Amino acid sequence: MCGIVGIIGNEEAAPLIVEALKRLEYRGYDSAGIATLHDGQIDRRRAPGKLRNLGALLGKDPLPGVIGIGHTRWATHGAPTENNAHPHASDSVAVVHNGIIENFRELRDELTAKGHVFATETDTEVTVHLVTENLRRGMDPVAAAQAAVKRFDGAFALVIMFRGDEDLLIGTRRGSPLAVGYGDGEMYFGSDAFALAPFTNRVTYLEEGDLAVLRRSGATIFDVKDNRVERPIVLTQAGAALVDKGNHRHFMAKEIYEQPEVLGHTVHAYVNGVTESVALPKSSIDWSAVTKLTMVACGTSSIATNIAQYWFEQLAQLPSGTDIASEFRYRDTVLIPGGVSLFVSQSGETADTLAALKHARAAGQKIASVVNVAESSMARESDAVYPTHAGPEIGVASTKAFVCQLGVLASLAIAAGRARGVLPRDAEIRLTRRLLEMPRLIGEALKQEEIIASIAQEIAKARDVLFMGRGLSYPIAMEGALKLKEISYIHAEGYAAGELKHGPIALIDENVPVIVIAPHDALFEKTISNMQEVMARGGKVLLISDKRGHELAGDNVWMRIEIPECDPVFAPLVSAVPVQLLAYYTALAKGTDVDQPRNLAKSVTVE
Ligand code: G6P
Repeated sequence: MCGIVGIIGNEEAAPLIVEALKRLEYRGYDSAGIATLHDGQIDRRRAPGKLRNLGALLGKDPLPGVIGIGHTRWATHGAPTENNAHPHASDSVAVVHNGIIENFRELRDELTAKGHVFATETDTEVTVHLVTENLRRGMDPVAAAQAAVKRFDGAFALVIMFRGDEDLLIGTRRGSPLAVGYGDGEMYFGSDAFALAPFTNRVTYLEEGDLAVLRRSGATIFDVKDNRVERPIVLTQAGAALVDKGNHRHFMAKEIYEQPEVLGHTVHAYVNGVTESVALPKSSIDWSAVTKLTMVACGTSSIATNIAQYWFEQLAQLPSGTDIASEFRYRDTVLIPGGVSLFVSQSGETADTLAALKHARAAGQKIASVVNVAESSMARESDAVYPTHAGPEIGVASTKAFVCQLGVLASLAIAAGRARGVLPRDAEIRLTRRLLEMPRLIGEALKQEEIIASIAQEIAKARDVLFMGRGLSYPIAMEGALKLKEISYIHAEGYAAGELKHGPIALIDENVPVIVIAPHDALFEKTISNMQEVMARGGKVLLISDKRGHELAGDNVWMRIEIPECDPVFAPLVSAVPVQLLAYYTALAKGTDVDQPRNLAKSVTVE
């Protein structure tokens, strides 16, 4: 899972490729590399670690050439070393790859038997040797690439550059995205339109199985059966400006603080404050007739679906289920006629979620998506798209996209409730009013920053942390644990408060902080009883609750964070804030790389 770029231009390609790679680092940052042609020969620079290491290398040892390919890697096969960094090359071709070639062992054995010598531990290297082998057998570059691709199992986007031809790049995709960019006498490949935005806003999104042959004069595209096809050129809205951190130390902090504003934009896109009703974008989905809602996502987006399940059941009485994308498609999930499958994703590109979407479509479901990237693959493949308006999210740990997903999902649940005739008009009025108040209340929750920063100094000393909550606060407990793990590397688990006594309570001692999320709602007393069980066993409790909750919960808790009082239905939107800030300040205390934590990537484009 990686970002790939290709440029056939008229000026030095390497600096432009670095520019594009900066915009793709969200797809991985384990290593980076560039190959160009100069005097017809392939030359490469590669460096382990973040893109800045490659930049430093190119500063010392520039790479000339007006044609080139580049890569930023999230390692799958082979450690993130310089040797395993892309582009991979033979004496005749250089290749960058996003995805996994699943049958690489078989191909490697076959090619080794033919005398090819493999230099890396990657799956990608077979692509280099297979295309090289085809060229040796007399095929021209297009035939060599087409024949090679037919041998690959798995998901991939590839861009191939050929020794001796400074006017040719071939790119192909199956499963992983690839876009073609049209410049003025220059042509581009990129994993997404955002990477190409500094050069052009005219792009073609290649379709499944397409292979594109780029020359300065334009693109020739072949479909999966090698027939020539025309694909539309669209004007992308992707902005050329790189987002900056403003006055914040990290993107994550900036994004946490943007939440009132972007949630406001998002909610106002769905809720009409004058009519106090929800209006959904027009689509072919009739929410009054939906028989079952199946929500599928990964990571933090999946936690948003867990919260949404409560809303769809409570507000719309809609039979609902949630699933993790990587599990969903390999189970024999029963998808009943008339069902809608709803996919939630910040990027709209997560490989597992995208594959799950295709699986649900094949099973005859209507497809809806909640995505933050309007031009993403998931958006393009959905019957109904419900966008979040979070703006670009750069920090790997999702924050503002999550809160905006909640805003959209809450609106959807209200709309579905109305459409199904189970949510009375007065309830819709009350709920829309309350939802419109949420940006302000999140602003209130952010005011606890200082106290949370000091609490984080204590949390940073822990090796394990437990989070617990009930009802709508249970997914927030999971989100708190996920955030803490992701960026501070402290082991944490999120549990349903009532479930703690069935196992995790055995972990409790004075060294394991227990973070209890308990707004004063219908389940408050129950959660507090579970909190008492923890304290009775010497557990140190950090209680996150509102004013009333803190008054009622007694004096014996270790530390407290206050959240504003709000309608219990929407409490997850405010309780998300302290768990985000707690993870952020704990990570600062531990000195980790907050925006690009180890081993992770913003967008996971491999299975
Ligand atoms: C990665 C990111 C997470 C994100 C998840 C799902 O793991 O690090 O922050 O929640 O992918 O991504 P998506 O773009 O589908 O929401």
